[in-house]
Amino acid sequence: MKEQLEQIRKEALAALEQAATPAALEDLRVKLLGKKGAITAVLKQMGKLSAEERPVMGQLANSVRAEIEAKLEDCKTKIHAAALDQKLASEAIDVTIPGDPVSMGHEHPMSQVLQEIKDMFVGMGYQIVDGPEVELASYNFTRLNIGEGHPSRDRSDTFYFADDDSVLLRTQTSPMQIRVMENAKPPICILAPGRVYRKDEADATHSPMFHQIEGLVIDEHITMGDLKGALVTLMKKIYGQDAVMRFRPHHFPFTEPSCEMDMQCHKCHGTGEVDGQVCSTCHGEGWIELLGAGMVHPNVLSGCGIDPEKYSGFAFGMGLERMAMGRMKINDLRLIFDNDVRFLNQF
Ligand code: DAH
Repeated sequence: MKEQLEQIRKEALAALEQAATPAALEDLRVKLLGKKGAITAVLKQMGKLSAEERPVMGQLANSVRAEIEAKLEDCKTKIHAAALDQKLASEAIDVTIPGDPVSMGHEHPMSQVLQEIKDMFVGMGYQIVDGPEVELASYNFTRLNIGEGHPSRDRSDTFYFADDDSVLLRTQTSPMQIRVMENAKPPICILAPGRVYRKDEADATHSPMFHQIEGLVIDEHITMGDLKGALVTLMKKIYGQDAVMRFRPHHFPFTEPSCEMDMQCHKCHGTGEVDGQVCSTCHGEGWIELLGAGMVHPNVLSGCGIDPEKYSGFAFGMGLERMAMGRMKINDLRLIFDNDVRFLNQF
C-alpha cells in the first residue's frame, strides 16, 4: 500500500507538471483526489490493515493528498499567469503608430453666405424669424395682394397639396411678412430666410428648391430711402466697397412702388463683353439682378390690421443661391446642391 501511495505521488507530480491548460488540471484533480480517484481507491483498502498500520498509512495518504493539492494550486497559478502573459502580448497596442487622419469638414458655402447676411442684419437691429414651408395659399398669394387669376398661382408653376389649391409648398418667403404682421405691432424689423419651391427644371440658374431671404421693416415715416440705405449697405459689405448697384422700377403686387436691384457685373464691369466675347456671367447685360423690393402695399398692411395712414414700410426678397454664386464666383447652381466635397473644399 505504501508503494501504491508512493507510486501515485510520483506519477501525479509528473503528470501535473505536464498539464498545460485549466481543463487538463481539473481532469487530473478528479482522477487523483475525486471520490472515484486513485487515493480514495487506496484508502478503501485500509480495512485490511492491522490496527498499528492503519494510522501510519492514514498519515501517509494524507501527506500524499496534501502534496498533490499543493502542487495543483501551484500549477493553476502558473497556467493562469502564462495565459495572462499571452493575452497581454497578443493585445499589445503600439501607441507610437501614427493614427488614421480624420478629415475636417466645414460650413457649406451657402451657410457661410447666409451667416454673413444674417450677421449684417442683426447688427442693424433685425430679428431673425422662421416659418412653415408648407403654406396656405392665402398667405402665399391672397393676402399678399396676388389675385385669383395671377399666373404665379398656376398649377404648372406651384406645388399644391390638394385639388382645391388651398395648401402648397411656399413659392416665396414673402408669406412670412403676413405671418409677422398679423401677430406683431410696429415697429417691425425682421429677416426671414428659408427654402422655397417652384416647378422649375434644374439647370445652371434654376432649381425646384432654392432659398430666399425676406426682409420687412414697418414703422412710422419709413421711406424708400431707408430701403436703399439698408440694401446698399448690405451689398457693399458682401461684394466690397467698390461694388456698383442700381435700382430699376418693377412690379410686385404686394409693394407699391416696387423695384429690382442689380449689381454691376463683376466680370465685365458693366460692359457686357470680355475679350470681345459676350460676358458669360451676365449674358451681356452688364448687370446681375439681385433682388426684388418695394414699399409694402397699403392693402397688405390693412389686411394685417396695420393702419396704412399711420405706418409705412419696406420689404425685400433676395435669392440666397444667387448671392452665394456672386460672392463665391460659382457659375452653376447645381454645384451648390451636388455636395461634391471636391467642390465644397474650395470654400
Ligand atoms: N417674393 C418675390 C419673388 O419671389 C421677391 C420680392 C419682391 C420680395 C418684392 C419682396 C418684395 O419682399 O418687396 O420674386
